[in-house]
Amino acid sequence: AGTDDIDKTIDTALEAGFRHIDTAYGYKNEEAIGKSLKRWFDSGKIKREELFIVTKLPSTGNRAEDVEKYLKQSLENLQMTYVDLYLIHKPIGYFPELDKHGKHVPDPSTDHLSIWKAMEAQVDAGRARSIGMSNFNARQVKRVWENARIKPANNQVELNLFFQQKELVAFCKALDVTICAYSPLGSPGMRIKKNKGDPSKQVATISPLPSQRIEMPLTDPVVLKLAEKYKKTPSQILIRHSIQRGVVVIPKSNNPERLKQNIQVFDFTLSPEDVYELDFLDRGEKCRSYEPRETMSKSELEHPENPRKDPY
Ligand code: A2P
Repeated sequence: AGTDDIDKTIDTALEAGFRHIDTAYGYKNEEAIGKSLKRWFDSGKIKREELFIVTKLPSTGNRAEDVEKYLKQSLENLQMTYVDLYLIHKPIGYFPELDKHGKHVPDPSTDHLSIWKAMEAQVDAGRARSIGMSNFNARQVKRVWENARIKPANNQVELNLFFQQKELVAFCKALDVTICAYSPLGSPGMRIKKNKGDPSKQVATISPLPSQRIEMPLTDPVVLKLAEKYKKTPSQILIRHSIQRGVVVIPKSNNPERLKQNIQVFDFTLSPEDVYELDFLDRGEKCRSYEPRETMSKSELEHPENPRKDPY
């Protein structure tokens, strides 16, 4: 989003009651977010300590000696002295230089344990209140966890009604690592955009694979039925379902009305029977939208830290 959009989105979000802001060095919007938030701090309407700010180490910085440099840069962009949570964005590291096709090349020397020590040093230095990872599989979380002086607080992964990540959620829960769901609505925008050129494919489908024409969680008949029953919108049903599963959700919207809608989820509770019915709609790995095995390059597939080497 452009800077104006971010100003508008931050204003609407904070006014609606959102306090958790998720960004990343790689999203290239830290500066705009920092500027918007500074306006709020300067006006006295909100204090830094009332917010929960998350940002992420880029995968081109997935080496111990880069962690501090990138976090300091993110803090400068955000105009802050600390973040509440700093995440390793991806398990696979990439070389910073692009190849002749303009692509980033995986760096096979990625070493999570040495990166983690550098992450811990950021907590010691007061630049991060807590640390975690994103897109890690269970084995990768466990290895860091077992070797950590400061345990990972969170693993942020793709998760939605059709891709519930039940094994990973249970596994992380047992280690006291919280799960945060990105794309909790199933990334409707992403699929529609990809199909733009071809009107016959205008139906938003959740899976990137042409063979899988599964429609979106937002239009699932059970979700629509429950929306009617609870007098809520389909997105509110989806968000509430994840919350009741004990998962943190970060739905994204640039639209003020939808943004406001997405936080109106604390005034109702889905019955255990309805949660059960929604639990049952999980379709597993085939509904992964981001970096499914099928779209990974040979060097990513062969990378020692390719998270798709394990079933979850
Ligand atoms: P928009 O920004 O126009 O609201 P996800 O978080 O799963 O990646 O989904 C983000 C997408 O979902 C965005 O394209 C966003 O579009 C759309 N979206 C966000 N909130 C809602 C909602 N309440 N109802 C329908 N679509 C939504």
